Amino acid sequence: MFVDWPEGSKSAFGREILRAKHNISKSSLFDDDGLAHLLDLYPRQNLDIWTFGKQSEGHNSALRGRAPKMSGKDILEAVKQGEIWLNLRRAGEELFDLEHISTTIFDSIEAASGQRTTKRDVGLLISSPNVEVNYHLDIPMVTLFQLRGQRRVWVYPRNEELAPSTYIEEIVRMSREEDLPYRSQFDDQAEVFDLKPGMGLSWPQLAPHRVKNANCVNVSLSCEFQTMTSLVNANAAYTNALLRQNMHLSPKIPETVNALSFGKAAFAQVHKKLKPTGPRVSPTPITFELDMSKDTCVRPLWA
Ligand SMILES: [Fe+2]
Repeated sequence: MFVDWPEGSKSAFGREILRAKHNISKSSLFDDDGLAHLLDLYPRQNLDIWTFGKQSEGHNSALRGRAPKMSGKDILEAVKQGEIWLNLRRAGEELFDLEHISTTIFDSIEAASGQRTTKRDVGLLISSPNVEVNYHLDIPMVTLFQLRGQRRVWVYPRNEELAPSTYIEEIVRMSREEDLPYRSQFDDQAEVFDLKPGMGLSWPQLAPHRVKNANCVNVSLSCEFQTMTSLVNANAAYTNALLRQNMHLSPKIPETVNALSFGKAAFAQVHKKLKPTGPRVSPTPITFELDMSKDTCVRPLWA
């Protein structure tokens, strides 16, 4: 198995968009039988199930669901028939079969970037034809590896217009999901990629992005991690939230990490120790359940 990044990626990793080549998609783990098996093995209470709706102007909130009793085979069938998005978070740790893939990916990232990676999280994404993941950003670094299907990815620059600091801070403080308000005119600033199996993509930390599947089931690995730089940025944003809230300042995350960033990050670490928040809990309640008797394969709870 291989994951190859371009020559000379060291200075560009985390600062520029990089394309990778890989052959992870050749594994039978990700054919229909393999996915159904992985879904059966994965702790069901951890399975993230979402519907997003079509990308439109402004806020695009997603709905969160569950599938406590369905077999992996039926869940996969619901993906094929419906409009849903599954994320098997921490699949690299929860699923023994993915451990080797996770190690291969992060070894390749460390070799290409020359940086140590921490807080590694390989999420297995399985999603329906034509589904869109609305405009959002992720706090950690992200690399996306396409395994099955085809999708278009828009990656936008990080600036105050496209990714307001207040939103980044609320996401860091876990008081909101990662979605951002969208304007179609933002697309003028986006770089657009059509991902197919064997392709991978890495973009700068906190860069907003959105995704639209082609008319086919999509399977990919979303690999989140922190480097020292990205961790300092995330913690500096945490302190910025406190400064904004308590001292009415308007701090920003600089283009590159500086001495002030390290100071803010150190303060955030102390603050988190004094006021621990516990593990992340999604602010979005579960409002639907997968149901094969419905055309959409989705049944609202309490309806
Ligand atoms: Fe993302």
